[in-house]
Amino acid sequence: MSAQAPAAQDALPASPAAQAAAEGDAATDGEPPARSAAASAAAPAMSRPQAQAGAGPAARPASASVVETVNLVFPEDANPKGTIFGGRVLQWVDMVGAMAAQRHCRQIVVTAVMDAVVFRAPIYVGEYAVAKAWVNRAWRSSMEVQVRVEAEAPLTGERRLSTEAFLTFVAVDAQDRPTAVPPLLPETPEEQERYAAAERRRAARMAFRPG
Ligand SMILES: CC(C)(COP(=O)(O)OP(=O)(O)OC[C@H]1O[C@@H](n2cnc3c(N)ncnc32)[C@H](O)[C@@H]1OP(=O)(O)O)[C@@H](O)C(=O)NCCC(=O)NCCS
Repeated sequence: MSAQAPAAQDALPASPAAQAAAEGDAATDGEPPARSAAASAAAPAMSRPQAQAGAGPAARPASASVVETVNLVFPEDANPKGTIFGGRVLQWVDMVGAMAAQRHCRQIVVTAVMDAVVFRAPIYVGEYAVAKAWVNRAWRSSMEVQVRVEAEAPLTGERRLSTEAFLTFVAVDAQDRPTAVPPLLPETPEEQERYAAAERRRAARMAFRPG
């Protein structure tokens, strides 16, 4: 999807910022905040001076990118079996992912890659689809966003994991050219693991880049 920037944007210089190269492994999720809320955290994986080296935009904390949306699943969202249509889930995944990317960079973003989409469990009509997204890592103009969709039973609040996905969004300027985004500052151990794992996934993506 393409997410348009709001009228009031943060001013961002156009040059890239230095990135810390780290290694680690994939991550888990914590308790989601309220709809469309941002969280906060502490303890940086890379030092702030390292993250802000050069003349590029200042690093932003990973927690500032967190977005959560909740959709009640209607019959028109379902397939003939009465469970959610995969294409509708992808729409919501793309939407919440774009908002997370845009919360990080506060620029226009487009979806460049959607990969590793796994539908683990169906969501039924009448249940809530709770989609949570956050930025794992930012490079020069691109950002890896992770999305988790959970099914929530409205009467009990019980949740189960439905869908997981990784997406790459690219910030573009007024001429649709890729433009620099702020580095991401992972602060918690979980964010640091995600940050490191994102670099390995990017390498795999680039290796299998079509064309
Ligand atoms: C996404 C898009 C802007 C990239 O343009 P491009 O000319 O390929 O630009 P670049 O080659 O410089 O790539 C831009 C960034 O995307 C990254 N990228 C491109 N393809 C990638 C892939 N397959 N995997 C991972 N990253 C990729 C590049 O690494 C680069 O990241 P960096 O600046 O952080 O290093 C362009 O392909 C586009 O406009 N695609 C259509 C988007 C769209 O319509 N989406 C659906 C509706 S919004």
